[in-house]
Amino acid sequence: MKRNVISTLFIGSLLLSSIYANAQKATLEVDASKTITKIQPTMFGLFFEDINFAADGGLYAEMIKNRSFEFEKPLMGWEQPNTKRSSLNKESGSALPINIAANNTNFCRVEINNDKGYALINEGFRGMGVKKDAKYNLSFKAANHNGAIKKIIFQLINKDQKVFGETSIVPKSDDWTNYTAQFTATETEAKAKLKITFQGTGTIDLDMISLFPEDTWKNRKNGLRKDLVQLLYDVKPGFLRFPGGCIVEGRTLSDRYQWKKSVGNVEDRETKMNRWNVEFNHKLTPDYFQSFGLGFFEYFQLSEDIGAEPLPILSCGMACQYNTGELALMSELDPYVQDALDLIEFANGAVTTTWGKIRSDMGHPKPFNLKYIGVGNEQWGVDYIERYKVFEKAIKAKYPNIIIVSGSGPSPDGEHFDYAMKELKELKAELVDEHYYKSPQWFRENAGRYDNYDRKGPKIFAGEYAAQSVSGANPNNRNNWECAFSEAAFITGLERNAAVVQLTSYAPLMAHEDAWQWTPDMIWFNNLESYGSANYYVQQLFSINKGTDLLDITQDGKALIGQNNLYASAVKDVNSKEIIIKLVNTATSSQEVSIDLKGAKLGSKGSLIRLVSANLQDENTFADPKKITPKQSEYKVTKGKQQLSLPAYSITVLKLKTT
Ligand code: AHR
Repeated sequence: MKRNVISTLFIGSLLLSSIYANAQKATLEVDASKTITKIQPTMFGLFFEDINFAADGGLYAEMIKNRSFEFEKPLMGWEQPNTKRSSLNKESGSALPINIAANNTNFCRVEINNDKGYALINEGFRGMGVKKDAKYNLSFKAANHNGAIKKIIFQLINKDQKVFGETSIVPKSDDWTNYTAQFTATETEAKAKLKITFQGTGTIDLDMISLFPEDTWKNRKNGLRKDLVQLLYDVKPGFLRFPGGCIVEGRTLSDRYQWKKSVGNVEDRETKMNRWNVEFNHKLTPDYFQSFGLGFFEYFQLSEDIGAEPLPILSCGMACQYNTGELALMSELDPYVQDALDLIEFANGAVTTTWGKIRSDMGHPKPFNLKYIGVGNEQWGVDYIERYKVFEKAIKAKYPNIIIVSGSGPSPDGEHFDYAMKELKELKAELVDEHYYKSPQWFRENAGRYDNYDRKGPKIFAGEYAAQSVSGANPNNRNNWECAFSEAAFITGLERNAAVVQLTSYAPLMAHEDAWQWTPDMIWFNNLESYGSANYYVQQLFSINKGTDLLDITQDGKALIGQNNLYASAVKDVNSKEIIIKLVNTATSSQEVSIDLKGAKLGSKGSLIRLVSANLQDENTFADPKKITPKQSEYKVTKGKQQLSLPAYSITVLKLKTT
């Protein structure tokens, strides 16, 4: 009974305070005359990890799954629908994997006993996205024993076996030979398959059967998916972190990401099971492997294409501590350290150096101008600090200007975090990677996280973060509007503390609609389409409006960290001559604010960009991909203070031209 009375009173007072809050008009003061600090060009970047089919089946535009028959089950992804394996041996044909050389060990031997109907079908990555009138580049290797097979026919088919694209090749040689062809699709289909049939009887060996759209990012042959890179480009990211994430660490050490195996000829790169294949029982993806077609050279090239500083993260000799936690002994650390040194040479070395030459041979004689390197991902404890010191000493001895990113573990608080921060501070670490996967409420409550952070301590790389509507690694997490605007509230705090927070990135970046393991994710795609989540537009809004100089924005002399559910940050852009003010209203109703801007002469016009949605659960979807997107309108500057009404649950960016 008593309990009820208290809660009624409490609800009553909440209501009163919210009505009172809404009736008040907050006056915010912006001082445009004083730069608090420079905003780093790297302030808003991207975190890429091959999780959720983000590389193979995603950004890397290859349409054939298991093109070189190197999956653990060598014919995974390949169907042989007409093979009748009976004791009477009546099959019309069959394929079996054969093992050969070092890295790309398997090829597929096809034996055709009669030429009626045997087919080998590739299912793609949960289908292949094919567009009407678009061209597709086919390539493969074949060795045609005694010229037995007269013709190979390649067809795009749908689930009803309807053909909507076809080409054929006459395999001329007994020896391994490369063949290419191009064909055009006559229909659009999200779940196409590639069917291969044969004329003639006898044996033919096949390998590296590959199909790419001609229309790739920058029209690079066998390149990246254009729509997905465009979404990355549109964020104008300051950096690109790659290749992860836990994928860097591996479940075991031998399973770690080894960048050296990801460069050179694509067909020589060793295929490997993706660690996310088996990570979550809620989303097992047995067909998730890494072809490394998107490897370190391509990551560097992508960074360059989208104007982002490359930021590779490497294994520090510790396997994922959520899995085996396997350790390389201190006495066995040299190869790991050498990998880091060689990577710097690969990126920046002269073409006369061993690794610089490999980069050059791959088509990029000019250095990639690498400035950052990360040592370990989410490692924790004494073992990490011990190993970090070895890396730091070796890297700085050879490359004193390279900035080293160190890790602080998987959580932004708790024993492991406190220990790491204490140690890294003593070591005068330059840039510490912090990860925050927390509730939306946590994000709102932590907008002041860095307000009292030691300005002389290590700089912060907010390297992975996402508000989670349910909880960490839960498949029910949604990219909903509450998560997105709560992140925006938090980001105002990161921006206000640009003196210490120098790089930030949402994680993970991408997820395939049919093949994800982890939610939420910034970009969603299927084989034909892609869209940015509301969280994507939050990132984009901050990134393209990051400005050059941080300004002070206060209410009654205090930073806005959620008083009356209001959050704010302000910058100026010396290039565009604008003052840019970001305001986040997380209240259930609109709020009026008055902005008293001093220290700048304003022109008569500006613009107002708004990201808003009515309900906490709202999301962008394939059906409605632009539901939550920024809307821009003209803003008329008034004399004196600027008066704004901030809708409930909204993010507002006010851009004012100065004269
Ligand atoms: O972003 C997904 C995972 O979350 C990353 O791989 C890891 O670093 C973190 O735990």
